[in-house]
Amino acid sequence: MKTGTTRAAIEAEFPGLIAAAEAARRRAWAPHSNFHVGAALLFDDRRGERLVGGCNVESDVYGLTICAERNALFAAIAQGRGEPLALAVVADTAEPVAPCGACRQVMHECDPMHRLRVFLVAGTGDAVRETSTTELLPGAFVLDTGDARPRSPWR
Ligand code: THU
Repeated sequence: MKTGTTRAAIEAEFPGLIAAAEAARRRAWAPHSNFHVGAALLFDDRRGERLVGGCNVESDVYGLTICAERNALFAAIAQGRGEPLALAVVADTAEPVAPCGACRQVMHECDPMHRLRVFLVAGTGDAVRETSTTELLPGAFVLDTGDARPRSPWR
């Protein structure tokens, strides 16, 4: 893990990113776990809003629940966005949340150039951690399609 970053440093480099993740967390629908998570992506492609958020949404059929990270990534892909610069995740925790394995796989696939800046942010207090999709999932499954270039879901 990279060390030494702060909320203020993230705010200076990516204004509004953490606030967007916090706003998304307030929209979480988590009647089963009562664990609220928000994620936000920051773009500079000018094809839409600079920030796209996602929250976890739970189902009474538990396995249908989707995490905040995948909701944000899939919403942005559905909007036809270019590649995001940064992702922040914030949960109801005193320590930066650890994304689940499914989200780590999807985050890895959504970062084909391995340059996405990933920030895990505590919901209470000031703890933040910078990481990357390769650090979050070493040895990720990558489907070999024979393509010369890495596949990207971004326009
Ligand atoms: N959850 C997320 O949305 N992101 C994470 O990084 C961890 C877990 C959600 C899924 C479920 O709604 C609840 O948190 C408890 O697992």
